[in-house]
Amino acid sequence: KVNGLEFAVADLSLAEAGRHQIRLAEHEMPGLMATRKEYAAEQPLKGAKIAGSLHMTVQTAVLIETLVELGAEVRWVSCNIFSTQDEAAAAVVVGKNGTPDNPQGVPVFAWKGETLEDYWWCTDQLFRFGEDGPNMILDDGGDATLLVHKGVEFEAAGAVPEASEDDSEEYRVILETLRRSLAEDSGRFGRIAKNIRGVTEETTTGVHRLYEFARGGDLLFPAINVNDSVTKSKFDNKYGCRHSLIDGINRATDTLIGGKVAVVCGYGDVGKGSAESLRGQGARVIVTEIDPICALQAAMDGYQVALLEDVVEIADIFVTTTGNFNIITAEHMARMKHQAIVGNIGHFDNEIDVAGLEKIPGIKSVEIKPQVDEYTFPDGHSIILLSKGRLLNLGNATGHPSFVMSNSFTNQVMAQIELFTKPGEYDKQVYVLPKKLDEKVARLHLDALGVKLTKLTKEQADYIGVDVEGPYKPDHYRY
Ligand code: NAI
Repeated sequence: KVNGLEFAVADLSLAEAGRHQIRLAEHEMPGLMATRKEYAAEQPLKGAKIAGSLHMTVQTAVLIETLVELGAEVRWVSCNIFSTQDEAAAAVVVGKNGTPDNPQGVPVFAWKGETLEDYWWCTDQLFRFGEDGPNMILDDGGDATLLVHKGVEFEAAGAVPEASEDDSEEYRVILETLRRSLAEDSGRFGRIAKNIRGVTEETTTGVHRLYEFARGGDLLFPAINVNDSVTKSKFDNKYGCRHSLIDGINRATDTLIGGKVAVVCGYGDVGKGSAESLRGQGARVIVTEIDPICALQAAMDGYQVALLEDVVEIADIFVTTTGNFNIITAEHMARMKHQAIVGNIGHFDNEIDVAGLEKIPGIKSVEIKPQVDEYTFPDGHSIILLSKGRLLNLGNATGHPSFVMSNSFTNQVMAQIELFTKPGEYDKQVYVLPKKLDEKVARLHLDALGVKLTKLTKEQADYIGVDVEGPYKPDHYRY
């Protein structure tokens, strides 16, 4: 704590380097910058106390400072142990007008290379906004939302349960974190949940968790699914991964991708971008899918669609993109070629069975460099695992570039404004933003690319049954 500002970051002296990158990013984030201008006078987030859990990158720094410019008070953590850019975290803490000795920015609790204990400690710090905690959550993957829901559940039960044998290492850490937190203040999460006006969720996996809470009647506050804005999932998940997947593989391994055989597991939005990313480098890409529609799409896009079991011995690079678990097993990895590269770009690390890999008798691992580990099997062949199975585009590189994140984050800001300024208007359900706002986000990004948009005439608009000013598509349209 310095000058009353709490934070936990790697090194405040990195702030200047971070500030330069943030300045360049602002130019590449026209949606966020236009939003700052549009709401400068109105200050719609005045009074908002936003608890944000989203990869603490340079792009996120521009999001955080946009929320602050709109009047919000903000605390921030990363939603992954490897995804923080330490210079961005430092710059946000120091703030535009502060210095490393006199930080004046936003409380951030995030550094690259946290342990699981660190990670959940940080997430617990997120909620310490004085007595009553925050009144909004901005989440990516749902960990902040999960902590509140688990906290409320255990408060009601009167105790945090002991971990069972089947629980993952991470769940044990969550239980331990809550045990400590509730020992300090046993009513903390109930009060927090009561004050939260809503959560806005960034990604497919977090949205999946929210719908599960809602289906069970357990969702404690309203939620906006930002992921399913068209200008989020059809851009960030696809074009973002098209950029950042090979960025991560290149920075991690420097292996030539051209001519290699790459397997992409899953052909949803992230899979489509990932497959194109690898094909763009000249890899021969094979897709695996469980959904006949996505499998047919992959085939029509020109990819071989196969079973992982049938190609595991011939591929050089494996990438999971499914949001599902146990996609690449220890047995698969045991059968791979020498020095096959294995990585995941889905939200959680359970797509690859790293725990199972580490339990193979006689297996040895060596860290080649941070977030790049070689596992050597007893027969002498090895595989190269990226980011210990965590999302490699943020672990081995710096995630998606600014321009695409400007689309995602402009949706985030609009969703925050919507839920914060309309308390009581939303039920404890999951909503998406109206199409009009989706179109507005896209519109804000056209000029920067020199796009000239054709304007409908009144007669044409009447003919296809839309308003001249939009929305131009029915809700069921799929883009
Ligand atoms: P999606 O639902 O569009 O795609 C997932 C695909 O995987 C689906 O088509 C599904 O049929 C397929 N799948 C499921 N189980 C499978 C299995 N056993 N084998 C083969 N295919 C299988 O989801 P989306 O939006 O593509 O997101 C995927 C994951 O990536 C999520 O965890 C999401 O949160 C994460 N994500 C990561 C980003 C990053 O920067 N690393 C960016 C955006 C999303």
